[in-house]
Amino acid sequence: MFRCSRRFGKVVSGGAAAPFPSMSGLTITKFDGSHTYNQQKNIWVLLQEAMPLLAMPATYVALSLVKCVLHSALPLFVNSWYVTAAMCAGAGRIVAKGKSNHIVKDLRGKNVVITGASRGIGLHAAIQLSQMGANIHLVAREGAHVEAAMKAIRTAAKDGGTQTFTFSAVDFADLVAVQAFTSALQSEGRVIDILIHNAATLKFENRKASIGEDEMLVVNLLSPYVITEGLLPLIQKSSAGRIVNVGSSAHAGVTPDLLQKYLNEGHHAPGHKHNALEHYGFTKLGLIYHTQQLGARSYNADADANNKATTDKVMDDDNGSGAPTQTPAAAQQSPPTFVACCANPGGVVTDIYRDIKYATAIMHYFYYPFLLLMRTPYEGSQTIVNCCVRDDIVNGGVYMDCQHMPDSLSPVACNVKERATMMEWVERKLSAHIKTKGSSTSTTAETQQQQNA
Ligand SMILES: NC(=O)c1ccc[n+]([C@@H]2O[C@H](COP(=O)([O-])OP(=O)(O)OC[C@H]3O[C@@H](n4cnc5c(N)ncnc54)[C@H](OP(=O)(O)O)[C@@H]3O)[C@@H](O)[C@H]2O)c1
Repeated sequence: MFRCSRRFGKVVSGGAAAPFPSMSGLTITKFDGSHTYNQQKNIWVLLQEAMPLLAMPATYVALSLVKCVLHSALPLFVNSWYVTAAMCAGAGRIVAKGKSNHIVKDLRGKNVVITGASRGIGLHAAIQLSQMGANIHLVAREGAHVEAAMKAIRTAAKDGGTQTFTFSAVDFADLVAVQAFTSALQSEGRVIDILIHNAATLKFENRKASIGEDEMLVVNLLSPYVITEGLLPLIQKSSAGRIVNVGSSAHAGVTPDLLQKYLNEGHHAPGHKHNALEHYGFTKLGLIYHTQQLGARSYNADADANNKATTDKVMDDDNGSGAPTQTPAAAQQSPPTFVACCANPGGVVTDIYRDIKYATAIMHYFYYPFLLLMRTPYEGSQTIVNCCVRDDIVNGGVYMDCQHMPDSLSPVACNVKERATMMEWVERKLSAHIKTKGSSTSTTAETQQQQNA
């Protein structure tokens, strides 16, 4: 059965669904978040990503050559501009669309927490997981559109009678609210089988969140970090707990110098001009690092409880290139207590670009031409869904086009030392705002509010 949930969204057809694998049924490759950077392979992956831009001109050139050579032999209509345009557009669309997820699992009884599923890519991921039978807990800001989103997720349900659909209104720019949400779920104690961090923002203006930090940093990195760390015990309760962080190729824009600048001087350093994409890339790099670190820590849960950087330190025996020369002994013996991976949705026509002047209107009116270069939100959600349900998973790995793509990582994203530095930086940043750790965690702002009350 096919259903249209929104203007451009479609829900995949059902079929015999395999059961959601337990940890013992998973094939886990112990990537541990370390990958040796290979420039040629990285360039090749970047070229693959740019293929939607190249597909139409390449088709045009190929068709022109064919016409030159076979001009007289071709039927007249093939030589027409309409046919050329249609073939170029078709090639663009096929390439832009990317690969689809073909795995359907029986997710009945599985609890999924997904952030930012009130619209865009996240909504379509939630719809597909609902269609596989999962209980969906949506986390996003409040708004009139949330009701429509919940309705679409509920309507797609595989087994509406038993599935649960809940919503938590949380503004990720507000660390107090994020903390309160995390504590509430902690005290509820429900197992979390899949946690998807999809919510993110792209701000073209230099805006600060309530705690005085840059809003993009708080929404895209600090809040997901707090939620993941807070909910880790609930994810570990699952027989196959998964964390899927939504990344972006924008991380590749962060050079080693730029990373040092951000880490040492901060985003609001005097003379530092706000570059939205650069800073967005920095937050996504942090999310990739966190995924890798989680992958490494998942084998060493006891040590992890005391020190998040433990595994990074153990693995930090590298040759400077970022590629570690050894894996922790614990990682070689024990199975992971959860798995983490990062999904890159590719370029997608969504509201994330709404801060760019006229972008929403342009994307609305030129929606179909944009689809010759970019994906629909449904197409963009494919890798996220695939990461949620695939049996074989590279722990700490990055996925693109429903495939493990370590070569999509920039040299900085492969560097274990930089990762440890940035994760410690995130911890330091948060410790300035979060007073105590564990279930009784409270933010300094929250304490201030309580005192005022
Ligand atoms: N679109 C692309 O081309 C592209 C490319 C690479 C990666 N990505 C990644 O894909 C993910 C989904 O993006 P999208 O394109 O679907 O964007 P979108 O349509 O703007 O959706 C973003 C979602 O995040 C939520 N969100 C934003 N700011 C929030 C905040 N302060 N607190 C709570 N929730 C917040 C939004 O909630 P509201 O409804 O309240 O705004 C919305 O549900 C993001 O992680 C993005 O970085 C997108």
